[in-house]
Amino acid sequence: MFGKKKQVTTIDKAQLELIENAQKRIKQKKRLYIHFVIFLIGAVFLILANTVLGIGENFKIAEIDWFVYAIVAWLFLFIYHFINVFITNKFMGKDWEKQQLEKLVNKQQNRINTLKDNFIKEETKMAQSQAYSEAKTLVKKPSSELTLIVAAGENNAIGKDNDLIWHLSNDLKRFKSLTNGHHIIMGRKTFESFPKPLPNRTHIVITRQTDYKVPSGVIVVNSLADAIDAAKSDNQPFIIGGGEIYKQALALVDKLEITRVHAIFENADTFFPEIDNTKWQEINRTTHNVDEKHAHAFSFITYLKN
Ligand SMILES: NC(=O)c1ccc[n+]([C@@H]2O[C@H](COP(=O)([O-])OP(=O)(O)OC[C@H]3O[C@@H](n4cnc5c(N)ncnc54)[C@H](OP(=O)(O)O)[C@@H]3O)[C@@H](O)[C@H]2O)c1
Repeated sequence: MFGKKKQVTTIDKAQLELIENAQKRIKQKKRLYIHFVIFLIGAVFLILANTVLGIGENFKIAEIDWFVYAIVAWLFLFIYHFINVFITNKFMGKDWEKQQLEKLVNKQQNRINTLKDNFIKEETKMAQSQAYSEAKTLVKKPSSELTLIVAAGENNAIGKDNDLIWHLSNDLKRFKSLTNGHHIIMGRKTFESFPKPLPNRTHIVITRQTDYKVPSGVIVVNSLADAIDAAKSDNQPFIIGGGEIYKQALALVDKLEITRVHAIFENADTFFPEIDNTKWQEINRTTHNVDEKHAHAFSFITYLKN
């Protein structure tokens, strides 16, 4: 549609030379063959001219007809031509062809070696970057990050009469977004503090009772170890309370998501254990002040185990 692109020859110079020489060689042999045919026809013609047509009938040298000399002279010419093609032009003979071929083969071998080197370099680079990203993934993403999530007052208060002591809308939103789609592990009393199971989360309830009844989809276990085992397919299961379970789980978890409510709640009956700062490192903190929706100031603090 937009005109033909001019063909650019991509043939190698040495290959081109070899082809041109081969063409020359064919032409030389062709000419020799034609010469031979003309010589045969010419010789017959000379014999007929003398014997049949009587041309130079009486012209003899040393009793030999002139056409014999003419044919012998032509034969020498033909022999000279033959020598010229097969001996003088020997440089284009088999040895020369072999040399050319070797030259080409060496050239191709060099190209193959260069390609091989490049391929090995490229492959090494790829393997290194793959190993690097795998190592990065291993460092950054442990296969499972058991996380404890809690909201606690300055005196570690977390509940009273099997209920929360405060209502902090942003804290509930954060709980929802962090635990969404994950396994949530809780004590029987915390489970009973919910009006119904929370949507889009797998509930694992710990109780010592052997016949504890729960709605379908809720998993019941008899120990914290069994609860963690039941959530092993999850890359981030959450321990969500209450007081008894937090006490047992604190030593086992990898991460803490604490909402520190900046107030002291004297009337609480359930408490979170003290966080040992030598064992935990604070990696993130955002603070929210009091406003019309939040009666207390609070901070979201993330800790990782040292
Ligand atoms: N502020 C927060 O972030 C937060 C979060 C969660 C809960 N809470 C509050 O915490 C309070 C509830 O905490 P809680 O300490 O009273 O109760 P809990 O820890 O929720 O549940 C205690 C129950 O768990 C079972 N249990 C505990 N350890 C066990 C073990 N090793 N093996 C088998 N079962 C075990 C027992 O159930 P059985 O008696 O059936 O054997 C036990 O009675 C409530 O006030 C709640 O509102 C606060």
